Amino acid sequence: MRSMLLKRTHMCGTLNSQNIGDEITLNGWIQRRRDLGGLIFVDLRDITGIAQIVFDKDISLDAFTKAEKLGSEYVIAVKGKVHRRESINPNLPTGEIEIFAEELQILNTSETPPIYIKDDDDVSENLRLKYRYLDLRKPSMQKNLIFRSKVANVVRNFLIEENFVEVETPMLTKTTPEGARDYLVPSRVNPGKFYALPQSPQLFKQLLMVSGMEKYFQIVKCFRDEDLRADRQPEFTQIDCEMSFVDIEDVLEINERLMQKVFKETLNIDIQLPIQRMTYKEAMDRYGLDKPDTRFGFEIVDVSEAVKNSEFKVFSSTIKNGGFVKAININGYQDKFSRRDITALEEVAKTYGAKGLAWIKITKDGITSPIAKFLSEDELKDIIEILNAKEGDLLLFVADKYEIVCDALGHLRLEVAGKLDILKSDEYNLLWITDFPLLEYDEEEGRYISKHHPFTSPMDEDIELLDTHPEKVRAKAYDMVLNGHEIGGGSIRIHSSELQQKMFKILGFSDEESWEKFGFLLEAFKYGTPPHGGIAYGLDRLVMLLLGKENIRQVIAFPKTQNATCPMTNAPSLADEKQLAELHIKLDIKEE
Ligand code: AMO
Ligand code: AMP
Repeated sequence: MRSMLLKRTHMCGTLNSQNIGDEITLNGWIQRRRDLGGLIFVDLRDITGIAQIVFDKDISLDAFTKAEKLGSEYVIAVKGKVHRRESINPNLPTGEIEIFAEELQILNTSETPPIYIKDDDDVSENLRLKYRYLDLRKPSMQKNLIFRSKVANVVRNFLIEENFVEVETPMLTKTTPEGARDYLVPSRVNPGKFYALPQSPQLFKQLLMVSGMEKYFQIVKCFRDEDLRADRQPEFTQIDCEMSFVDIEDVLEINERLMQKVFKETLNIDIQLPIQRMTYKEAMDRYGLDKPDTRFGFEIVDVSEAVKNSEFKVFSSTIKNGGFVKAININGYQDKFSRRDITALEEVAKTYGAKGLAWIKITKDGITSPIAKFLSEDELKDIIEILNAKEGDLLLFVADKYEIVCDALGHLRLEVAGKLDILKSDEYNLLWITDFPLLEYDEEEGRYISKHHPFTSPMDEDIELLDTHPEKVRAKAYDMVLNGHEIGGGSIRIHSSELQQKMFKILGFSDEESWEKFGFLLEAFKYGTPPHGGIAYGLDRLVMLLLGKENIRQVIAFPKTQNATCPMTNAPSLADEKQLAELHIKLDIKEE
């Protein structure tokens, strides 16, 4: 008969010299086995860390004989006594002690794992994702998931404390326009019809406000079929909130306290309130992006005035055509950028639409620049003054229309900071961006689209501009930015059926289309809808940044690859003929 499982009395990583003399039992996995003839040493791992076990013939011949068979990742239970180590290992938290085994149970064997269970194993990410359950045995990955759970808990506790009610909303639903493509799910019982997986619970949380729920939250999966990046996954988790009878200040205030709590309880960092605010316009002017990384300078400066009449036609004609010449001063780092480096920066600028990248270096021997010869002495002098340039500086210029100048210089700033390696992942800059434009003109579609989403309220004082200058209307919208990433966004919503219908019209929907798509919302708004607003955070992004990680996949247990696939389960996969027939779906895939 098999003996009863030796149940653990302690966790490996928590043992220390205080336990010396204790009779204990540990459960875990074999990290490593070293055979020294008469003695066998085993590093035993559980979620808390590693402890060293010694098997000695003289203490237990039975345990020693079994231990001879142990291999990597075998699962064992071991009972024994804690001793002080002869040679202390200062690199291990449990390095002062070891356990002399008296009894060993091999609970399971293991084949040689295809990836090493150690943090610095640099195998391909594809292999890590294929064997994700092994990858997640690594202490760093376990730490990430434990931290993530803690963040979610702090958030949940805070919101419950503030009388928010957690309400679940449907996953099989109708499209919610957050700007990405939907994931569609065919309905078997309604042939030819599809559900959309929610891009967010936006409409349901608004309907809960109509229901009188007053304060709602949910930690919830959202689905967006969009191009993936380091901080984007096709399915991700939002901390989603909505409140009734609030204005912008109320939403910002409670969210500042939420963030303060998260930083304090997870990292023991004190965030000073209020959180800095910046308007969208200021963010674009100074940093070129609506999610500026404010941990470093190299701010964008307009030099158009200095070069508007320049012989250098690239500059002067751009300005004549309504464009701008702007620059960033990479102050003190000119010697870090060779000509070849600058050519590489120019390529980066071009991917954001810039036509070129003009530059000036101020070295101890004077000015080096391909454009200096086209600039007058006065122009050079003015540029240097406006940019506050000194010896040692590198100035980078882009001439183009406003949007392109912002985009190109905004991304160059980040590129340069990355190359100089001046960003600290344990420095946290939180920032609100406010006063977003409500709409932006989409050249391709030939119509206005919502900058945030169609349910965002215009600023009261801008409502009259809706008919005359829609592009000038500002929204009651706000984003929270952390170290150059948008970690959250929200708005005060439209709560009148008429204004919502008008908004749909401005966005190019006919009345029929609006009612077809969002009739349930317009209908609901007729029955006493309170003013309301809210926000949603990307939990994955937040956790990634708090942990100083560069990729969202590091904080998601089972993420998708760049092509939205899962190497472990092989999802997505083919559906069988019978399933497709039941769904009345015929595939029409052309061979490449
Ligand atoms: P928004 O679209 O700005 O707003 O989304 C809120 C936050 O979710 C995160 N996020 C993502 N994280 C990972 N992968 C993605 N693909 C992804 N897309 C978004 C971001 C973002 O700030 N319903 C509105 C919120 C509201 O108005 O209350 C919404 O979804 O961190
Ligand atoms: P060119 O006269 O096209 O040879 O350009 C001279 C320099 O100006 C090169 O360094 C180009 O990269 C740069 N340049 C060209 N177009 C622009 C532009 N729109 N903005 C900034 N620099 C530019």
